[in-house]
Amino acid sequence: MTKTSVETIDTATGAAAPAEISEERVLGIFTEIAEQYERFNRCSSFGQDRKWLNRLVYSAPIDAGARVLDVAGGTGEVTFTVCAHKPPASVLLTDFTPAMLKVAEQRLAAGDACGVPVETMVVDAQDMPFDDESFDVVTMAYGIRNMPDRRAALREIYRVLVPGGTACILEFTTPPLAIERFFYNAYLRWGIPAWGSHCTGKRDDFVYLAKSIRAFPDQKTFASMLVDAGFSSVEYVNLTFGAVAIHTAVK
Ligand SMILES: C[S@@+](CC[C@H](N)C(=O)[O-])C[C@H]1O[C@@H](n2cnc3c(N)ncnc32)[C@H](O)[C@@H]1O
Repeated sequence: MTKTSVETIDTATGAAAPAEISEERVLGIFTEIAEQYERFNRCSSFGQDRKWLNRLVYSAPIDAGARVLDVAGGTGEVTFTVCAHKPPASVLLTDFTPAMLKVAEQRLAAGDACGVPVETMVVDAQDMPFDDESFDVVTMAYGIRNMPDRRAALREIYRVLVPGGTACILEFTTPPLAIERFFYNAYLRWGIPAWGSHCTGKRDDFVYLAKSIRAFPDQKTFASMLVDAGFSSVEYVNLTFGAVAIHTAVK
């Protein structure tokens, strides 16, 4: 049966649509670009992506006893940054696309976990197979924008966190100033597809990426979605003129 509800959208436009449209597209895109994904990030952000990841990990209250869940963790960019800078008790690295996790597993085999126990699992963030209150910290970078039922994903993150646990979410957002928005939108329209084509040869996949960024709610709206999911102490910090933001929220 088609999983359509008032809450599911087409992540390229933000308009109401059956979830399958976005889910099949995202699986196809990330399967195609998995091997070149990290190189694209480095190039298209002019190296800023590493700074953003470090800030995400800096904002996460991770100690040596923490059980961390990395949602939509892809090739492990967040997981391995956590392992390097704030080694926790364990990280469960989850994602919807097996090809992305395959790259993460190669990095795991190469020692990128720095001795931290890391497991990988194919998981849909909108319907997670974990018990309530299983994790101390949930991280997610550039994941929520690709999900057609974002409210379901936020409810799931809330459910699997322990009381007092923290969600730390990094996402592309909307620069607050009009002049910054103008240049940012121009870069999304022409720069991102050009970098995508250069790094992977798949220009169309990056036209989607740029559209999904433009269609994503602004920082305040996303903060209110976290509150709606049950979180308190919701805060965000803009990075690089608000091109990206980190939201933190406590259960
Ligand atoms: C832009 S990548 C981000 C990967 C990683 N977090 C990083 O920082 O590089 C987006 C990831 O979200 C995953 N994703 C999309 N929808 C998902 C869902 N419903 N559940 C879990 N992962 C999902 C994709 O498979 C993809 O690996």
